[in-house]
Amino acid sequence: MTDGANDEFEALQARVRELEERLESRASEETFRLVVETAPYGMVVADASGSIVLCNPQAERMFGYTTEQLLAARIEDLVPPRFRSAHPRLRQTFHEDPVHRPMGAGRDLLACRRNGSEFPIEIALTPLPRSEGLLVLATIVDITSRKRGEEELLRYSRRLEQSNAELESFASIASHDLQEPLRKIRMMGERLAGLCEAELGEQGRDYLDRMIRAGDNMHRLVRDLLEFSRVGMRQQSFRLLPLGTALGEALAALELLIEETGAEIRAGELPSAEVEETQMVQLFQNLVGNALKFRREGVSPIVEVRGSVETGATGERVRIEVADNGIGFDPRYGERIFQIFQRLHGKGKYGGTGIGLAICKKIVDNHEGRIQASAEPGEGSVFVVDLPLRKRRQFDTDSDPK
Ligand SMILES: Nc1ncnc2c1ncn2[C@@H]1O[C@H](COP(=O)(O)OP(=O)(O)OP(=O)(O)O)[C@@H](O)[C@H]1O
Ligand SMILES: [Mg+2]
Repeated sequence: MTDGANDEFEALQARVRELEERLESRASEETFRLVVETAPYGMVVADASGSIVLCNPQAERMFGYTTEQLLAARIEDLVPPRFRSAHPRLRQTFHEDPVHRPMGAGRDLLACRRNGSEFPIEIALTPLPRSEGLLVLATIVDITSRKRGEEELLRYSRRLEQSNAELESFASIASHDLQEPLRKIRMMGERLAGLCEAELGEQGRDYLDRMIRAGDNMHRLVRDLLEFSRVGMRQQSFRLLPLGTALGEALAALELLIEETGAEIRAGELPSAEVEETQMVQLFQNLVGNALKFRREGVSPIVEVRGSVETGATGERVRIEVADNGIGFDPRYGERIFQIFQRLHGKGKYGGTGIGLAICKKIVDNHEGRIQASAEPGEGSVFVVDLPLRKRRQFDTDSDPK
């Protein structure tokens, strides 16, 4: 090829490259348009002066504009009037440091429709450098329904908290005030029995005994109800405690029953956890107390208490198991027994008010843990308590405060 022909060929090649690049950039421009058009969010592109140069149908619907109206508008028109004057300054700040600002919690703002009504939005900003200058893509989500849902949830949880507190204080006051008249019924009953022994006769004495027993039962019920309503109400102090200490205290309180039943308590090594000591003692006392109470006739009770530490997604957790060789129960009732007054076995044979496990559940909830039971009739029961090793602090939140 001659030099002249060579130059011509190279010029032609350069022209082809240029055309290819233009086609490519037009194709990518087209792809960009398509993405914007079909995105499920409102999208608006503005230039450095704040004029809107591109928008999608979602943005038009969200703000109540036609395409033409939105393309003739400025970004400031979409901002509530009271924030408008400060907005150009914010835009300028973005232009000085144009980095992608993703959508995130804590940056929800208000936007303004064409008719002047306002709505909460979340917004992400993406810089789009172009040869004609920097454009900014704003991706907008209307969060009205999310906000409404959040507010509803907040209102609901406040109502729930209030009614819970009212119920607890009612239960506590009622049980406290019921104790006194009950004591009096018992005292007067016994006096009557002593004073009128001869006149009462066999039947009269039987009626009186039953009355006194009923009074005693009610007294126990009221005392347990009071105990239940007080979990978490008193001043609480959580501290890292070897759980073996709490178990030891519970076993000391159950000493007589352990002796009477000839029970064998097999207590393994228990880990430490950040707990409320009195509540932990109460928990062990209820669980081991049940294991002894619901024993099989003619079989010496064996109660095994095991502990371990497991590391899960939510940090270290302590697992405690209380297993017995007692009468067990139908596993269908594994959840129901934690409800107040729920008892599965005959009142005559096994005394109790049906509050013990409800107290256990409340204690475990108070420690942000879980309690579950598994059993088979005639084959013993296992109660499993799962607690966080360390109590979550109020300032331990996941969200970034920024
Ligand atoms: N270890 C266990 N083995 C078999 N059944 C059990 C065991 N622990 C609890 N239950 C069943 O669950 C019911 C509820 O237990 P809970 O401790 O709440 O009540 P209670 O022991 O009957 O009365 P309270 O504890 O108030 O004196 C019991 O009545 C019993 O039927
Ligand atoms: Mg009990």
